[in-house]
Amino acid sequence: MSENTTNYSRAIVDFLRNIFLPTETARRRSATGDRQGAAKPASRPAVFIALGALPVAMLGVWLAADPVESDRLRLKSKFERPSTIPYPADNVLSAARVDLGRRLFSEPRLSADNTISCATCHKPSQSFTDGQVVSKGVTKAPLRKHTPALWNLAWGHAYLWDGRAPSLEAQAKMPLEHPDEMGQAIEMSATKLVAIPEYVTAFATAFPEQQKIAPESILKALASYQRTLVSPMTRFDRWLDGDPKALSNSEKRGFQTFVGKGGCTNCHSGWAFTDYAFHDVGLDTTGDGRGKVINRPALDHAFKTPTLRELAWTAPYMHDGSMATLEDVVRHYEKGGVNRATRSPDLPRRLDLAERERQDLVAFLKSLSSSRPAHTPIETASSGSTSQASPDGRVTKVGQRDKKFQPTQVSIKAGETLTILNDDSQAHNVFIMDPRLNFDSGWLDPGAQAVIPFPEPGDFEAFCGIHPNMRLKVEVGPNIRSK
Ligand code: HEC
Ligand code: HEC
Repeated sequence: MSENTTNYSRAIVDFLRNIFLPTETARRRSATGDRQGAAKPASRPAVFIALGALPVAMLGVWLAADPVESDRLRLKSKFERPSTIPYPADNVLSAARVDLGRRLFSEPRLSADNTISCATCHKPSQSFTDGQVVSKGVTKAPLRKHTPALWNLAWGHAYLWDGRAPSLEAQAKMPLEHPDEMGQAIEMSATKLVAIPEYVTAFATAFPEQQKIAPESILKALASYQRTLVSPMTRFDRWLDGDPKALSNSEKRGFQTFVGKGGCTNCHSGWAFTDYAFHDVGLDTTGDGRGKVINRPALDHAFKTPTLRELAWTAPYMHDGSMATLEDVVRHYEKGGVNRATRSPDLPRRLDLAERERQDLVAFLKSLSSSRPAHTPIETASSGSTSQASPDGRVTKVGQRDKKFQPTQVSIKAGETLTILNDDSQAHNVFIMDPRLNFDSGWLDPGAQAVIPFPEPGDFEAFCGIHPNMRLKVEVGPNIRSK
């Protein structure tokens, strides 16, 4: 604990001692013959008030002893991850649609010259960005805005930096048909796919009510897949859940600046650290922001607040890709940027950070990212049977029905793998955060499975990043077969 917090808690203890000494201690001291307890016994009402305040005060000491802990408790509910993904009534989220959408996302035949797919610019291996300031599509002409990552979009209301797409379905049509991006009419895409038998089957499964591949089904499948791009649970979430060691002291101090004098939560609020709204943060822009879409010049320099999850993998930053590092971004907020009438009043005024505070803030931002670029899964299970046992009776396959690992504890041997099958109706995830084994299954749709290798013996705990109270204990014994 830092010196500051120690002093702070000592001050509180002193304060409380002043309240209680005249009563409790005085009595005890006189009983033990301690003459130095010179304080006069307090009058009855004072004793009463003091005793009544005891539980409250104790709580106060406990909280005040660690201001970070008190922030955590106070703000926990504000940052808690949701347990379900929202979707529109006319595009029900199903495993078949998500699966099809995942395939289409990487399908270059959706472009004019069969070379560009969504994944060309939104690379799944690079956290759904491409690391460029601006990307290029079929014409090789640089695009006007920076390619954003695609995390946590299911909770948004308006898409693209200026919000001109009202839904993910509507958005998907834009890059498909934009002459500089994929450059192909969606009807032509549907015609190309009809010639590929696997797609005919996959569309029939995902959209049984459609006779043939409809252009809107392409959009619905792409949107369904993107709704499942939920940034995984990170160390920050574990800390929020009550594991004090999940964050370093520097990261905790950074969190305090973030929610405190940084004023960052004015816009980067909620578990995804975005209000999904539009603000002018003082960047030097060409004015092609929200204002042009809704005809409000005051919002010409306003762009959508991005999620701050997975930032470690999504540089460069901002709608124009103008900032190479998170430190550049923090320095921008310190300087305040272009001083114009439309600049958001919610920005911090005169944010003056010491070098250490700046580093702490950046460290905190990085704690919202996975330890390696997160991706999406994975194999689809061929059979629905769960809790398989090996020939000697040990469980090697675990299910996830009813939001529980089933069973909740297994023993295997070093060198063996454990298969987790999502046999639930909801999507899950499997996470192991351990210095010896860092595993992240990514999104585990119903029917999908993850295979986890356990190379070394020891006790491990797996949990679901979406439903963190789903926990599985894995006891890995020494490999008796190895010589
Ligand atoms: C040539 C590069 C490129 C390709 C190909 C591409 N995108 Fe994008 N994507 C971008 C850029 C650039 C933006 C930001 C454009 C803007 O806001 O004006 C963007 C924005 C988005 C957004 C908005 C995210 C948000 O936070 O609002 C979504 C969703 C998206 N793309 C999905 C897709 C899908 C689906 C495909 C394939 C059908 C695709 N993109 C193909 C470059 C690309
Ligand atoms: C007034 C609302 C607001 C406040 C306050 C705010 N931000 Fe932002 N932030 C935004 C918007 C809007 C953008 C995108 C701006 C753009 O690209 O034009 C953004 C972008 C960012 C980005 C880049 C993300 C990316 O993917 O490109 C980071 C990092 C960031 N903010 C961190 C912070 C931190 C740290 C603070 C507190 C010091 C903060 N923000 C305060 C609204 C805000």
